[in-house]
Amino acid sequence: MRKHVKGNVSWVGYLDWELETFHGDDYSIFHGSSQNAYLIEEEKTILVDTVWTPHHYDFIQNLKSEIDLKKIDAIIVNHGEADHSGALPALLAEIPGTPIYCTAMAVKSLEGQYGKQGWNFHVVKTGDELDIGNGKKLQFVEMRMLHWPDSMAEFMTGDNILFSMDAFGQHYATSELFADLAEQDVLWHEALKYFVNILNPFAALIPRKLDEIAKLNLPIEMIAPSHGAIWREKPFKIIEKYAEWAKAYQEDQVTVVYDTMWNGTKAIAHAIEAEIKKQSPSTVVKVFHIAKSDKNEVMTEVFKSKAIAVGSPTAINDILASVTAWISFAKSLKFKNKKAAAFGCYGWSGEGVAVLQKELKEAGFDVVDENVKSLWNPGEEDFAKVPELVKALLA
Ligand code: FEO
Repeated sequence: MRKHVKGNVSWVGYLDWELETFHGDDYSIFHGSSQNAYLIEEEKTILVDTVWTPHHYDFIQNLKSEIDLKKIDAIIVNHGEADHSGALPALLAEIPGTPIYCTAMAVKSLEGQYGKQGWNFHVVKTGDELDIGNGKKLQFVEMRMLHWPDSMAEFMTGDNILFSMDAFGQHYATSELFADLAEQDVLWHEALKYFVNILNPFAALIPRKLDEIAKLNLPIEMIAPSHGAIWREKPFKIIEKYAEWAKAYQEDQVTVVYDTMWNGTKAIAHAIEAEIKKQSPSTVVKVFHIAKSDKNEVMTEVFKSKAIAVGSPTAINDILASVTAWISFAKSLKFKNKKAAAFGCYGWSGEGVAVLQKELKEAGFDVVDENVKSLWNPGEEDFAKVPELVKALLA
């Protein structure tokens, strides 16, 4: 089954309602996803990307039900990651020698994953074009580090579609295909979660890339990413959002995250939450027990925050392993422009708060000195330190 996208372009990807995690188990999926592949049937027949390896059989059978595979004149590989290239080996076994248009880095990644099979690579770079007939062309734009070194996009003239690869995508399954027909709250949450967890580490490169695309003066009417819904109405809205998100984004929100052994550190977390509402009623506050919360969702909340408070009891001269892992993940996402404060209980040696402060600094947060370090369960004098900590976070 194909779905009509625009003109002679169809969606021939895989709608993955059952997917629960992505990148192994590193990215949680709560609303399904899709691996979008597109079939362009102009004078030339072009396949843009394929699907993940486990779906290769369904993908190829579906393609066969739509066209004679031998009609495919070229395959565009925008990115070598397995969710888009996984069906290539099986497809090329059916149509060996079909030209593959991709970046030089994609050749490396494809040969690295699937071996040197003598595939018919045509390396392209920004500015290169492929004539597809009927007066239309594909204009290639390298998207290096958005999010892999091999990433690429292309603009299809005539129909004015930007095939944007992972950028502007969402892990979101929608039968409706188009973003304007999707459930808006879910769509935008998934677009943001995708940006935070996949693209934010490379956010510094995004404004430059968006400027470069703007300078090409492409009359973009549609953005067709490799995951989730296609942006058909006001496609520039998602580009504007990316520009906004890429610039050390923050809202009036504070996120409190903690793990706890005997609920003492939890009590401080909730005292901080209450004090934030007292000092700044309009500030959104969210509290997460790290060990029991989805890390990708929590990071999406951290991304929206201007400050965070992180708590852990001291455990074995250190902090709890769940908090160590959480900060390590936060570090990899390269958040900017966010304050952080530390808190936690201890019974004996009490290194926890100092370890938290050090690790949060190393993770790129602006750590305030104010903290709450409570011997045994927090008492009056510990809770008395909460207003100063909150004041420093909100300043
Ligand atoms: Fe959707 Fe980077 O692969």
